[in-house]
Amino acid sequence: MSIKEQIRLTVNADKVSVPIYVGNDIYADVKTIASINDYSKVGVLMDKNVAYHWGESIRKVLRKNAIYIIVPAGEENKTLAAAGNVLATLLKHGFDRKSLLINFGGGMICDLGGFAASTYMRGIAFVNMPTTLLAQTDAAIGGKTGVDFNGFKNMVGSFAHPKAIICDSLLLSTLPEREFRSGFAEVIKHALVADKKLFHTLAEESFGAMDEDKLAEILLQSCGIKCNVVSKDANEKGLRKILNFGHTIGHAIEMLSHDTRNPLLHGEAISIGMIAEARLSLLSGLISKEDFKKIEDIIEKAELPSRISKSYKNKIYAKMMGDKKNERNIIKWVLLKGIGKAVIDEEQPGKLINKAIEYILI
Ligand SMILES: NC(=O)c1ccc[n+]([C@@H]2O[C@H](COP(=O)([O-])OP(=O)(O)OC[C@H]3O[C@@H](n4cnc5c(N)ncnc54)[C@H](O)[C@@H]3O)[C@@H](O)[C@H]2O)c1
Ligand SMILES: [Zn+2]
Repeated sequence: MSIKEQIRLTVNADKVSVPIYVGNDIYADVKTIASINDYSKVGVLMDKNVAYHWGESIRKVLRKNAIYIIVPAGEENKTLAAAGNVLATLLKHGFDRKSLLINFGGGMICDLGGFAASTYMRGIAFVNMPTTLLAQTDAAIGGKTGVDFNGFKNMVGSFAHPKAIICDSLLLSTLPEREFRSGFAEVIKHALVADKKLFHTLAEESFGAMDEDKLAEILLQSCGIKCNVVSKDANEKGLRKILNFGHTIGHAIEMLSHDTRNPLLHGEAISIGMIAEARLSLLSGLISKEDFKKIEDIIEKAELPSRISKSYKNKIYAKMMGDKKNERNIIKWVLLKGIGKAVIDEEQPGKLINKAIEYILI
């Protein structure tokens, strides 16, 4: 049986209101949610892994009413050339301004397909049907699309919102466990910066025992947080920055790990970053030792990494300083002021930052 709840992402500045459907076993509803009969053509963009696991199921739902576009999986394929191939396929099949693209995949597919749809004939309608935990609670929501370019992540892109977003917890059942855990780091982050109640729910959950209905409930809350934050700060001037918690140090670790034989997934690096930035919050007197311990415990329980090799020691700071988001070489931190509450634009002395980094080294 499917449960389905609807929330909305409303961005007044952009005059958009995007319905987000969250539930267990609801993907077949895409036919009605996306009103596919209203469009001249419908395309479904998937990567090879999603096509392998869910290609047959989606074909049974949409049958011959859709064109299926399958691209290679992986971030290395989120390129302008790949977007060009998608555009060429749309053109070949006669897609026009009244056509629709359904992005059925992880964040890579939502970003790539959103970009292709938003530029094809200056923009056609698209729907996001995310299939990873990261994409369901983060990448599919918020209107950012794009591809990597000349070695820079998300360097070319657009702002465009989908007509609807469908988050089905059933689709996560085939996700490799490591990917699932990595996505879970972002769910923990949402709880830490905005929702104490969700934090307690997560702290009580055990991974193995979480069924798809329970997961759908957690998804609903996590998506709700992203919606709320984006709605209030569409231009990333203030509140939206809280979503960067764990990402200042985490992003540096992620990039550094890509030069090693053990590259970390995004959420894995962020979970180490969250420990370091929670430590910084503790060192600057913003959170208690008890809260810090709770944060360490939840990350440990989710079997996410919390430490990184000593060999990273001097590289993390240097990498962070090179981040283009810094103004005048000053890092503006997102810190916690308790569980479920974040503060932005905090400046911190180098001594404390080093101490926080020291803490995560083994
Ligand atoms: N636009 C935004 O606001 C935003 C926000 C965060 C991240 N992102 C982007 O999202 C991307 C990362 O997203 P991701 O972690 O979902 O990566 P991804 O899309 O590459 O998916 C990860 C892996 O899981 C596989 N997969 C996806 N769904 C599956 C399923 N249901 N069953 C089995 N395998 C499945 C994929 O084929 C891939 O190998 C990055 O490119 C990042 O830049 C965008
Ligand atoms: Zn992230």
